[in-house]
Amino acid sequence: MLGKIVLSEIQLTERRRFGSTDIYLSPLGLGTVKLGRNQGVKYPQQFSIPDNRAASALISAAKNFGINFIDTAPAYGTSEERLGELLQGQRNDWVICTKVGEEFDNGESRFDFSAAHTRFSIERSLRRLRTDYLDIVLIHSDGNDLDLLARGESLAMLEQLKREGLLRAFGMSTKTVDGGIAAANASDGVMATYNSEYIAEKPVLDYCAAHHKGVLIKKAFASGHINDPATSLRFVLDHPGVSSVIVGTINPDHLRANVAAAFRTDSASAN
Ligand SMILES: NC(=O)c1ccc[n+]([C@@H]2O[C@H](COP(=O)([O-])OP(=O)(O)OC[C@H]3O[C@@H](n4cnc5c(N)ncnc54)[C@H](OP(=O)(O)O)[C@@H]3O)[C@@H](O)[C@H]2O)c1
Repeated sequence: MLGKIVLSEIQLTERRRFGSTDIYLSPLGLGTVKLGRNQGVKYPQQFSIPDNRAASALISAAKNFGINFIDTAPAYGTSEERLGELLQGQRNDWVICTKVGEEFDNGESRFDFSAAHTRFSIERSLRRLRTDYLDIVLIHSDGNDLDLLARGESLAMLEQLKREGLLRAFGMSTKTVDGGIAAANASDGVMATYNSEYIAEKPVLDYCAAHHKGVLIKKAFASGHINDPATSLRFVLDHPGVSSVIVGTINPDHLRANVAAAFRTDSASAN
């Protein structure tokens, strides 16, 4: 349902530092797979991609709720291009995270972690998002986290692009514990999966907390399969390593419920 959004008094004023960077994130971020792609996804229900009016209302509501963090990727269909249009005039209000390495064309994913593709992808993301810098860029792992790190090409190129001022921070969206820890070691932070029913990657979060690396959480609701979203969100946010939880929703009522679950009266400070 994408109807009327009722703004409320609830606002997430808490900001959490992304590792040792100068980037400060709302504890809840907005995931945007569903703004750009409805093929090859693992959500429990089919859905229609929201039109511009609904997507714009969702983004405004998120901003009014104190959310300052939005996550996209070239592999999320039209997500980057749409955000370029939808976020026009509000670049300074948002921390934008995108990714490199995964492409999604004609219903299929393919991967390219070469240095040349990494630069090409970043330059394309800048054009699509209509900006001259990206805040956080993650290598979109295909699951072979350690191999990608050992190959090192994409990571080295991201380091270079950070020196050139095209991005502020970089890391990897990982799928394994060893890979998550190694990626954290080699970068500003990681994106890992963690929720009340899946804690296998907790050692990555623990490592990052101990070593001042950033942690973004994906699939905090197991892509919509979790029974109690509010409990899972609070469980994830209680881990001291977590910088922000990216929840993908296109339902304004769910957005509001998630903000309410993430809201704490005593947490209006950055850690
Ligand atoms: N490899 C990667 O780097 C990677 C992989 C996956 C995801 N991500 C990022 O992480 C984000 C989140 O991951 P995800 O979308 O897979 O999973 P998720 O956030 O765990 O779950 C999203 C699903 O939960 C539903 N939902 C949200 N709030 C709800 C609520 N309060 N009550 C009931 N259902 C609710 C959403 O449906 P409604 O739209 O109906 O609310 C949606 O279908 C993505 O959007 C993306 O930005 C990254």
